[in-house]
Amino acid sequence: MFHKITIKNINKETPEAVSIEFDIPENLKDEFSFKPGQFLTLKAKIQDKDVKRSYSLCSSPSSGQHKVVVKQIPNGMFSSFANQELKISDTLEVNKPAGSFYIETAPSNNKNYTLLAAGSGITPMMSILKTVLKEEPNSTVNLFYGNKNPELTIFKEELEQIKINYGNRFNLHFVYSRSKGESRFHTGRLEGRKLNKLFKKFAPISHTDDIFICGPETLTMNVKELLINKFKFDPSNIHFELFTTSTPIVPKKNSKSEGISEVKATINGEVVNFSVKKNQSILEGGLAAGFDVPFSCQGGVCGVCRCMKGNGEVEMENNLVLSEEEIESGAILACQSRVLSDHIEVIFNE
Ligand SMILES: Cc1cc2nc3c(=O)[nH]c(=O)nc-3n(C[C@H](O)[C@H](O)[C@H](O)COP(=O)(O)OP(=O)(O)OC[C@H]3O[C@@H](n4cnc5c(N)ncnc54)[C@H](O)[C@@H]3O)c2cc1C
Ligand code: FES
Repeated sequence: MFHKITIKNINKETPEAVSIEFDIPENLKDEFSFKPGQFLTLKAKIQDKDVKRSYSLCSSPSSGQHKVVVKQIPNGMFSSFANQELKISDTLEVNKPAGSFYIETAPSNNKNYTLLAAGSGITPMMSILKTVLKEEPNSTVNLFYGNKNPELTIFKEELEQIKINYGNRFNLHFVYSRSKGESRFHTGRLEGRKLNKLFKKFAPISHTDDIFICGPETLTMNVKELLINKFKFDPSNIHFELFTTSTPIVPKKNSKSEGISEVKATINGEVVNFSVKKNQSILEGGLAAGFDVPFSCQGGVCGVCRCMKGNGEVEMENNLVLSEEEIESGAILACQSRVLSDHIEVIFNE
């Protein structure tokens, strides 16, 4: 459920990114509690359209702040609006924190974490690293953070200050693709081969417990493959968040994709019925019928459209968030699911 929330603070972090801090009212504090790594979904009317986008919280839960950073994407609808028009005291509609990319810390942990971030992918990492450093006194964090140059590096100074505060427990590596880094290891694009060298030199994988990745899809998939195939790293200790995907839902032109299915959906406790063409996703059908079906990325990466399937059959395209167990228990992504049966029931639990 979306709530109207006032913007408490807004700051230009780099020439291409603003941070937005929300003033969460006392009565919503419990609903808006979050784990480090989770995101908020924001909604605004832009050019007469309701536009919803997700943004990872960069503040740590213990700070009491709810802060996100929005990087300007050329011609991007929400990011242009946020960077050019939003100001302090404006309100935005905000949905409670969500997402399965997060860390659970424990004071007794004695772990070695490696975090990889590129560009705006630093946002969930800020929340994760601040929480680990504060709440796990025996753990160490390595951060490899790729950007074009120092000027475009979000949170550069804050990270340098955290390094001063935590010394050897926080190993900070800025890697620049369009400017010279502090060594040859720190100069060039953050990609598989470069990371292979960086790991060997600064953060041996054999001494690493968990790896968190937030960056472009190709970087994420290449690193995952490198870690699993070359380093035999346990896949269950690789955690990643994608902000966007290159694999949109593509209607299938086969015999099963013709005709119409009837959907009975429970959204925010209210039961609604709509029809969906068999080559459309449940989300497309619901939105076309005028219902407030939850969604954000529409690419199978954020999980905002997650729902539970009752009677009926679907086929799912791109899924980068649901685990095998969740799918076995009946969870589906409405933005990626085409209905194969004539009827289906789905329950959204926002
Ligand atoms: C879980 C989650 C967390 C996110 N956290 C953050 C965050 O902390 N900070 C942040 O800035 N963004 C974050 N995003 C991305 C954000 O939700 C938007 O996708 C992004 O701001 C672009 O929205 P837009 O409306 O400006 O662009 P749109 O109008 O939706 O897109 C314009 C064009 O840009 C392309 N595009 C969309 N997103 C990206 C991207 N990230 N990089 C490159 N090209 C893109 C689109 O394919 C399209 O061609 C997150 C996304 C998810 C799913
Ligand atoms: S809207 Fe993001 S996974 Fe469906």
